[in-house]
Amino acid sequence: DPIIEPQAVAQTEEHTAIGGQKSLTILFGSHSGNSQRVATLAHQEAERQGIKSKVKNMEDYNARFLKDEEQVLVVISTHGEGEPPLSAQELYEKLSGKNAPDFTNKPFAVIALGDSSYKHFCKTGYDFYSFLERQGGKPLRQVAALDTDFNDELGELIPSVVKLFAASQASASSAPKKENVEKIQVSNSPVEAPVLEKVQLNGRGSEKETWHLEISTDRKGLVYQPGDALEVYANNNPELVNGILNATALSATEQVSVGERKINLEEALTNYYELTIVTPQVLKKYATLLGNDSLNQLLDDADKLDEFLVGTDVLDLLQKYPVSVNAEQLLSVLRKLPPRAYSISSSPAEVGDEVHITVGAVRYEKENRERGGVCSTFIADRLGNDDTVKVKIRPNNNFRLPSDGNKPVIMVGAGTGVAPYRAFIQHRAALGDQGKNWLIFGDRHFTTDFLYQAEWLKYKRSGLLSRLDVAFSRDQEEKRYVQHRMKRHGKELYRWIAEGAHFYVCGDMKKMAGDVKSAFLDIMQIEGNMSREESENFLTKLRKEGRYQEDVY
Ligand code: 2AM
Repeated sequence: DPIIEPQAVAQTEEHTAIGGQKSLTILFGSHSGNSQRVATLAHQEAERQGIKSKVKNMEDYNARFLKDEEQVLVVISTHGEGEPPLSAQELYEKLSGKNAPDFTNKPFAVIALGDSSYKHFCKTGYDFYSFLERQGGKPLRQVAALDTDFNDELGELIPSVVKLFAASQASASSAPKKENVEKIQVSNSPVEAPVLEKVQLNGRGSEKETWHLEISTDRKGLVYQPGDALEVYANNNPELVNGILNATALSATEQVSVGERKINLEEALTNYYELTIVTPQVLKKYATLLGNDSLNQLLDDADKLDEFLVGTDVLDLLQKYPVSVNAEQLLSVLRKLPPRAYSISSSPAEVGDEVHITVGAVRYEKENRERGGVCSTFIADRLGNDDTVKVKIRPNNNFRLPSDGNKPVIMVGAGTGVAPYRAFIQHRAALGDQGKNWLIFGDRHFTTDFLYQAEWLKYKRSGLLSRLDVAFSRDQEEKRYVQHRMKRHGKELYRWIAEGAHFYVCGDMKKMAGDVKSAFLDIMQIEGNMSREESENFLTKLRKEGRYQEDVY
């Protein structure tokens, strides 16, 4: 084909290096904005080191441009069960496929973001690495795999990665190098914000315990939009901390260093280290410390390992596999305590200088000991009305109201999954948006678990909420779920979609998202006269247009 596509020309021109220097393309695939932020920092650092660079979102990057790049830094997060973020899916598929573009001899590196409590930690980053290597690329280093609490690492990592690119081009073109790179100041740091209100939303006798928390954002620089999440920095249950101190016979007052500071061991365990979850990495380090092979069999059997780690905390480890350690050794095994993110349940347009979240307390008993999720029980049990709490906004560009306020929205949520919809409806109410709103909500029991019932009924009465359908799963013999409500009103739902509605799913169960999706596909087939394949293509198209969005945790 002799026709040169205008886009390809533009791309080549942009990438033509000046003065023989290799330029750097930073390609990011972001889910909640973290990879984008890291990419931007890398770009700034490259400029500082005198490398021409540009940042590209994988979402609008054509795979065939790769062969025109000079060197590439990939910054990519892993999502769900080891999948690429939605915005990176297309590129991922192209690179994994038979017709992946040539990348011979091009220097590259990968910064992977992930959460090491998941089995497929940073998988997408490792995949990109293998794809590029397979196409002939020259890796400048191994994958830099960053865990959830990566902020502290960036100051070292980014300059060193960018330096590799500088060095690689220097050897080719002997361009001058800049030494003594300073550390980057990472912005968007957490702040201490006052708690204004804390209420339990479930009625007496509920099997659930859901908290509504209001926090002041006044002069705190906490800027957010409906759809965003709030990261909360918890501290550990003192009983668990004491249990660990007893089990190790270490002294609470012993001084240890955390980062640049010296604090006592009790404070370190309380505020800085994860105690309620044992990840495979933690277990591996622990096994090394143990020095015998009683844990090795477990580490070699993935299924057994998974089973063992469910509900196991650091105290269990110390009790089941006693080890004699000093404080520094103990801390070296543990992982830093990452903040927990909760979907924000308010709109600043409605609540002003406040941010609200909706938190389900996670509690269970195992081996005769009461246990709980670190952050949800911190909020439920240890956070008082006059306290401050350390928080930070986590933007989520993949869960947004339509920019057009006249577009209809369908909001499907179970349990605390109703949170972002409260933000959505507040926002539309405050702005006077005219688009229709449909909420489909599910939880266990009508009398105790209809979260924010009074507010929904108020919106229903005022007409802002055009439809409200509820599914209480345990009020009758057979299970009744949100997807059953969708199907019952399939005709109507199809009509809304045909009118351009945006569809949202939110909840704390991965299974629910899948069940809702298949109900959605069924409805499209039946009401839209589509084949299975057509309905699936239609859903893909909706997803691409941001008209089918999920926030599942
Ligand atoms: P259950 O606990 O009675 O099974 C919020 O937790 C609500 O979501 C509960 O009513 C819960 O029902 C329900 N739920 C559980 N699994 C679900 C699924 N796969 N799809 C939709 N709702 C589900």
